[in-house]
Amino acid sequence: MLSINRERFKENFSALANIGVMREGGINRPTFSNGHFKAREWFKQKTIDAGFKFKVDNAGNHIARFNCPSSTSPVLIIGSHLDSVPNGGKYDGALGVVAALEVLQTVKDSGVILPYHLEAIDFTDEEGTLVGLLGSSAVAGKLSEMEIANPRGNQDVLVDGYTKLGLSPSTILTSKRAPESIAGYIELHIEQGKILYEENIQVGIVTKIVGINSCSVTFLGRADHAGTTKMEDRLDASQGASSFGLTLFNRIKNNYPACVVNIGKMVFHPGAFNIVPEKVVVSVEFRAPESRQLDEIKFDLITVAKESAKAYNLKVEINFLGKHPPVIMDPRVRSTIKRVADSLGLKSREMPSGAGHDSQSFARICPSGMIFIPSKGGISHSPKEFSYWKDCVNGANVLLNTVLQGADYVQLY
Ligand code: GLV
Ligand code: MN
Ligand code: MN
Repeated sequence: MLSINRERFKENFSALANIGVMREGGINRPTFSNGHFKAREWFKQKTIDAGFKFKVDNAGNHIARFNCPSSTSPVLIIGSHLDSVPNGGKYDGALGVVAALEVLQTVKDSGVILPYHLEAIDFTDEEGTLVGLLGSSAVAGKLSEMEIANPRGNQDVLVDGYTKLGLSPSTILTSKRAPESIAGYIELHIEQGKILYEENIQVGIVTKIVGINSCSVTFLGRADHAGTTKMEDRLDASQGASSFGLTLFNRIKNNYPACVVNIGKMVFHPGAFNIVPEKVVVSVEFRAPESRQLDEIKFDLITVAKESAKAYNLKVEINFLGKHPPVIMDPRVRSTIKRVADSLGLKSREMPSGAGHDSQSFARICPSGMIFIPSKGGISHSPKEFSYWKDCVNGANVLLNTVLQGADYVQLY
């Protein structure tokens, strides 16, 4: 079986891991930050140096392309993302992008002729510091005007970022491709959980990806002097927000064992030790394996928010911000990954993903699959994120050979 070039892969991964690095070792490349732009520039330069066609589409996705001889063939896309969560790890997304480029180089060097074009793509804003799966859902035609107009992150950053790229948010949706032009999508990623690590298994084959909803919940009260206003006289937005958070956590823990909820941010206004907060904005994300559960949690969340506001005589506003439905990964791609792992002598198992991925966008329109490798201790979205290099190399070789075996699963119209 063909193998990737370990040294080149390592050199590229290490170069990228130095971009946007914090003093404590974390990676800080939120979408359209300086670090993110530098990482994307690195990818562009590598693509050009390697002799591939380079293109930026209207969603700002950075695309390296290796054409097959037949111009009418569809394209098999491999990729991931170079943006990171604030102070995240160096493997999340980056591993998949570097591996995708390495696969293109290995295929090109080998002289193998495939019946589909190959693209390695660095997708814009996978992590959702702005929208989430922005670039991939735009290409898959699953992004809405609403999600661009009402991002869960900072709208100014979104507009400024696209302007810096010489693009505009108003044309993002034109990056949609005809589904029949896409033969399939494959992504390599770290697991970001501890199943593979604890079971000492080298390859995870993703069966399905969790659905994700986000919303901001705003409690509105009245600003007052924190020293002179009696506890019973306050319209304290922080009390409503606190009650909402704890009640919601318990509701999910007790009623939805397979689901999770996260409050990643609470912003207090005006925000001072000695002012009763008149407004608290709570950033909430919830995830579930089934769409039905997402709907049920949404209903419960609205109920809990209203009850919490009522208990403290507050007003509440809820703004739902984008939704990524759960998806099933293609059974043919899964069995190809399994066969490739077996041939390489690697232990593998099927598993669901609790993290969102760009493959989630493509699974809705073409045969898609994901390859996981172990994350030490299951830690991710943290500077402590770590994967052993031999596992990264194994993952890249599984990716390469799954791409080469595309005839088993791609859609050729
Ligand atoms: C991406 O890593 C996500 O699941 O939020
Ligand atoms: Mn990721
Ligand atoms: Mn991530």
